[in-house]
Amino acid sequence: MRAYWLMCIAALALNATPAAGEPSVERGLYISIIGGCHDCHTEGYSESGGKIDPAKALKGNALGFQGPWGTSYAANLRLTAVDLTADGFVSYLRGLGTYPPMPQYNVRAMSDEDKKSLYLYIRTLGDAGERAPAFVPPGDRVHTPYIVLAPPLSPPACTRDFDCGVGEVCDPGGSGQCMKR
Ligand code: HEC
Repeated sequence: MRAYWLMCIAALALNATPAAGEPSVERGLYISIIGGCHDCHTEGYSESGGKIDPAKALKGNALGFQGPWGTSYAANLRLTAVDLTADGFVSYLRGLGTYPPMPQYNVRAMSDEDKKSLYLYIRTLGDAGERAPAFVPPGDRVHTPYIVLAPPLSPPACTRDFDCGVGEVCDPGGSGQCMKR
């Protein structure tokens, strides 16, 4: 009896998310959302608080990401998928190598079933549309709006208490950072 109830609970849990195992369109949609793909590859998604405009879903983004690597644009994944078979798409994602901030390692880590589900979902999205703007090498002119992703900064160092704010001292331990008195 107990096992029966456990099985029911397991079945309910599986219903809430598309079942692992067989690749499916529903699972592809689910992965594209929790995998964060729309955050960058779907225009207006983040700004709208997570609404997928069907006309723009995974069609790429003309907002650039600029850093030491140059300026990159989230690609139109409909175009990526349209020229490939499901197996071709899976092996492309397995060996994916891209510029930042594309989290290529997360995509490579997906199971083949997840990669295939993404393909099935993307292929339902209709008209492939235009390519996202081309990558711009460092120092070249950028023709679109872009976000600057600068290398991390550290708080300014101190050598004496006078360098720090009110109620702070320069770390007597010698870390060169201000700390609360
Ligand atoms: C932080 C933003 C960001 C997120 C999140 C993101 N991407 Fe990307 N993606 C990019 C950028 C930028 C590029 C272009 C990189 C380049 O020019 O090399 C890209 C490129 C790609 C490419 C290469 C396309 C091609 O035609 O060569 C694939 C495939 C891809 N992304 C899939 C995904 C998938 C699947 C997800 C979700 C699991 C995802 N991306 C999440 C920003 C992102």
